[in-house]
Amino acid sequence: MHSSTEGTTNGTSNGTAQHNIPNSCPSCPAPLKYSGSLDHLRYFEITPIIGREYPDVKVTDILNAPNAEEQIRDVAVIISERGVVFFRDQDNLNIADQKKFCDLLGKLSGRPEDHGLHVHPIYRDPGNLTLPDGTTDENIYVINSEAQKKIYKTMARRAPTEPRDLSREWHSDSTFENAPSDFSFLKMEETPPHGGDTLWCSGYEIYDRMSPSYRSYLETLTATCAQPVFKSAAEAGKYEVMSPRGSPLNIGDDFAPSHPVVRTNRITGWKAIFAGVGLHVTKINDVYSYEDQMIREYVMRLITRNHDCIARMKWTKNAAAIWNNSCVWHAATPDTHLVNGNRTGVRASSIGETPYLDPNSKSRREALGIPIV
Ligand SMILES: [Fe+2]
Repeated sequence: MHSSTEGTTNGTSNGTAQHNIPNSCPSCPAPLKYSGSLDHLRYFEITPIIGREYPDVKVTDILNAPNAEEQIRDVAVIISERGVVFFRDQDNLNIADQKKFCDLLGKLSGRPEDHGLHVHPIYRDPGNLTLPDGTTDENIYVINSEAQKKIYKTMARRAPTEPRDLSREWHSDSTFENAPSDFSFLKMEETPPHGGDTLWCSGYEIYDRMSPSYRSYLETLTATCAQPVFKSAAEAGKYEVMSPRGSPLNIGDDFAPSHPVVRTNRITGWKAIFAGVGLHVTKINDVYSYEDQMIREYVMRLITRNHDCIARMKWTKNAAAIWNNSCVWHAATPDTHLVNGNRTGVRASSIGETPYLDPNSKSRREALGIPIV
């Protein structure tokens, strides 16, 4: 039996960390089970492997339910099992309630007590967009492709003579932090008639598609997740990066933590590939440069050659997606320049635990008894 379901904390509390990878979250509870409190809601799965949509549920109804805590904890479990959950027509959801819901997802599912919502490092950048009412909120990241271009002007320009490599879009939110995000909640306020889809890929399933010996090898590795653009943007704009950012662990302007390549999700107790690939992953540690390249290319190859591991959201006005960054990567589709219409959204993120790998945890397929092939 899974050891972490037997104790009161998550992970191998009596073991010692190997390869500088934490093997537990001492303050986190044992993995959670769905209680059934959402059984009255209509839903469908996006694919057999990843994603669920609740087509006619208002997030505010869950937030204001008499058993709200039980329902929100169950939403956290469902998101962590399915990777990402979609909602439509959240026209009555204001910023305060979006923040509250996202915060409670983390809090009620066992996030460390002194963690909260992420604060974007360059919230002070004068190029940042305001919310539709003209205000700003340090816990809300406003998504807009035009603003993105202005803020990241310190980044190198792409060569205009070649088609873009969109594989670079895959990432997990705030992996540049010592304690990265567990839940991210994105609501799209405006969207063009088509274009701008977001994709999520299951890190659980990518782990399950590797051979047992290769999985074991990756479990010994960590990756540096450096994102120097925040420091350089802050220096260019003559302002300080925000600190702390949703956790006493997320301070300063280094933005170069090491995270395990394979990680245990604290809520399901399942293993997923985590820091093996992505926009914020700079290098696999303690291997030669060609090995680093091979490992990351292999993970990316599995993502791009296994589209049955991917859920895709065609956004509609006021649609929302909430995902668990510790078991899925996501990628935006930068094609909105081809159509008329704005694409604007607002995102809140909760900050989870320091990533760890419980060596006794299972893969998703092992835990659910699904054959690997
Ligand atoms: Fe993201």
